[in-house]
Amino acid sequence: NRTENQMLIIFGASGDLTARKLVPALFNLYKGGHLPKNFVVLGVSRSNLSDDAFRKKVVTESKYLADRIGNQGEDFVNAFANQLFYEDLGSDYDTDYGALAKRIADLNVALKTDNNYIFYLSTPPSLYEIVSKNLTEQGLNDESQGWKRLIVEKPFGYDLSSAKNLNKGLQKYFKESQIYRIDHYLGKETVQNLLVTRFANSIFEPLWNRNYINHVEITNAETVGVEKRGGYYDKSGALRDMFQNHLLQIVSLVIMEPPIGSDAEEIRNEKVKALKSLRIMKDEETLYNNTIRAQYVASEVDGEKVKGYREEEGVDPESTTETYAAIKFFVDNWRWSGVPFYVRTAKRMPTKVTEVVIHFKTPHHQIFKDSGAFNKDNKLIIRIQPDEGMLIKFGVKVPGQGFKVERANLDFYYSSLVENHVMEAYERLLLDAMQGDATLYARADEVEAAWEFVDPILNYWKNGKDVRTYGYSAGVWGPTNADELIDGVGMWRNPSEN
Ligand code: BG6
Repeated sequence: NRTENQMLIIFGASGDLTARKLVPALFNLYKGGHLPKNFVVLGVSRSNLSDDAFRKKVVTESKYLADRIGNQGEDFVNAFANQLFYEDLGSDYDTDYGALAKRIADLNVALKTDNNYIFYLSTPPSLYEIVSKNLTEQGLNDESQGWKRLIVEKPFGYDLSSAKNLNKGLQKYFKESQIYRIDHYLGKETVQNLLVTRFANSIFEPLWNRNYINHVEITNAETVGVEKRGGYYDKSGALRDMFQNHLLQIVSLVIMEPPIGSDAEEIRNEKVKALKSLRIMKDEETLYNNTIRAQYVASEVDGEKVKGYREEEGVDPESTTETYAAIKFFVDNWRWSGVPFYVRTAKRMPTKVTEVVIHFKTPHHQIFKDSGAFNKDNKLIIRIQPDEGMLIKFGVKVPGQGFKVERANLDFYYSSLVENHVMEAYERLLLDAMQGDATLYARADEVEAAWEFVDPILNYWKNGKDVRTYGYSAGVWGPTNADELIDGVGMWRNPSEN
């Protein structure tokens, strides 16, 4: 166990994320024997809770933990719960942190956490700088004894300038090497596997370029609507909520050059370079032709009525915020010159799926006339979720006379690696931060490079001429206009097909 004794201090601990994701992830780490010998969680927020009430809320009486507890005995669960504590901050995050600092110091001495602290900010981003400042006033960023780390949640910025301000605000108080920006997609096994697929094998990388790849398609679809987050979502939209962060992270792993090694800086240097090579769309015509936004409208799915986006609670009835975004773009570098990328993300789709499809070029010279459903091109499909795995589509000869070609699949599913417990995203990411490994966290320049690409699209959607928000019914693959975006190379793949 490489994890040093430490304390995890969660700001916003009475919120949903702590109960739904963080504590369940910590419980799994505890079950797996990954937590250090001395480990303390200190929940902090403005609600008035005792240690006991906090333990009940997020452990013993939490619906999110019930299935993980399974048949673990009460003693086992209580031993975990007893590592959790709670401190009430009063009515405001911008207050004197003296009492909090004292509580941290006392717990540190009593439970021997060696002055190693992670501050997890599960608060609105508007509080990041304020919390950092107040921690600094108490000397809690000081690494002369023990290390100090800061984890921040998304959204990281609203646009390029707010992201820059956020970075500046945090970096006044913490060094970049102390800051961990979460993108939970980087915690997904299959997203990490993009690196292994490309750089641990010799059969893919030689083909991974403009000479052999025709185009790349990435789909991220959810069946749910905006649920109870209408208020947040209406100010955000699919481009900010999913594309700027999760999808551009996936893009960067697909397009990056081989790093010289696998440490955090080596990998992140290449990702930044990759993001900087995205061709920024400047003129209205390009933006008009290469971006599509749409909203789900009131409809029926499987006999059930589904509200339109504009009727959702917290959403402006005249909102133009997108619940569907499709973007076509190019990557201006040696490897990808001329290869179009198509990325779409949306809510209220027919199925929940995230996949990357590498479409290879057809053979230069076709000698078989009858290629049936094979359609002449090879595809590599990387299934991020669900049914995590990889699929290669290739042509085979149909047995019998002549040369009829049919499509066949070579597939691999993660579920076949049964001996390994697949860590959930937050489990993996928390453990990495606890061990000081920032590889799967976004660096400041990475986040800014992603915003640089996204900003002009957001501006165009806000102020451009001829910008439309199309409608689509819940349960279909988005507006038909999105087909025009891709028709130069064919059609969007239907991810429900194997
Ligand atoms: C979040 C978005 O970051 O990712 C949500 O804010 C979205 O709108 C979620 O539903 C999707 O995550 P996952 O892991 O279910 O694909």
